[in-house]
Amino acid sequence: MDLEDLPGVGPAIAEKLREGGYNSIEAIAVASPAELVATAEIGEATAAKIINAAREAAEIGGFETGDRILERRSGVGKLTTGSKSLDSILGGGLETQAITEFYGEFGSGKTQIAHQLAVNVQLPPAKGGLNGSVIIIDTENTFRPERIKNMAEGLGLDYTDVLKNIHVARAFNSNHQILLVDKAEKLAEELKDTDKPVRLLIIDSSTAHFRSEYVGRGTLADRQQKINKHLHDALRFGDLNNAVIMITNQVQVRPDAFFGDPTRPIGGHIVGHTATFRLYLRKSKGDKRIARLVDSPNLPEAEAVFSVTTAGIRD
Ligand code: GTP
Ligand code: MG
Repeated sequence: MDLEDLPGVGPAIAEKLREGGYNSIEAIAVASPAELVATAEIGEATAAKIINAAREAAEIGGFETGDRILERRSGVGKLTTGSKSLDSILGGGLETQAITEFYGEFGSGKTQIAHQLAVNVQLPPAKGGLNGSVIIIDTENTFRPERIKNMAEGLGLDYTDVLKNIHVARAFNSNHQILLVDKAEKLAEELKDTDKPVRLLIIDSSTAHFRSEYVGRGTLADRQQKINKHLHDALRFGDLNNAVIMITNQVQVRPDAFFGDPTRPIGGHIVGHTATFRLYLRKSKGDKRIARLVDSPNLPEAEAVFSVTTAGIRD
């Protein structure tokens, strides 16, 4: 079924929707009327009609019984980090259809883990991969193909093949970053029927642009609303593509904390409520790092030690 088959969608509106990143019936089914109004320059009533038709066609949006949810979740894949101990606190690896956030101070290993996942996702499931390709939204210009080479060789893979399945875009500001999730949906749609569909979306860092652009007290609500929308777009990407969503986040020092750890992740509870799994990374001796699972719907709080080596993430 094409977009044009929806009632009220002619070629011109379909074109605008596709330009806005709504490439499939599923994408429209999970959109809000306000999003379609803005994207396709149509009235609210038309938008609602289009969304309802898409929901019926895509069978999305109603209540589901628990056994159906269990069935859908049986399609959830797990992606290895390269470290058995880190995998184990995550219940076997990073889950698809969920956002996993890694937060921690500079040098704690967030970007290194992102690189490793970009390699590992290409492995077959028997080796902890998802047989897929990856899209990276790089906001701090820290993607390094040289590191991918090290890590691919560490797994005995041909690095030129591995690099071909890594699609990187630099995000120049927060609005561009938000837009790139739409672009990612388009690319994923194109790659859907190839032998390497997109199974991983990385946003490194998810909050840095927002943090630097929205300064001052009056801008906080606006910033949080934008981050919230951005993360929900990412989550939708994960659902549509049965993909892992990995985001990174730096911590900021909380000067008013007298007890415990004086740091907290940027974006605070907005990111926290949207991310399904949250891992707090700390530096330890030498190449050792400590990861703490701080938030998860079905796993206990736990810690794991892993290493950042030249060949990649290891125990
Ligand atoms: P920010 O983005 O600054 O917040 O930090 P981050 O958490 O993303 O840190 P990142 O993952 O970039 O970690 C950088 C650290 O990884 C370095 O300080 C090194 O300890 C380690 N590292 C990076 N490249 C190599 C490498 O080629 N070999 C080894 N052994 N370690 C590396
Ligand atoms: Mg980094």
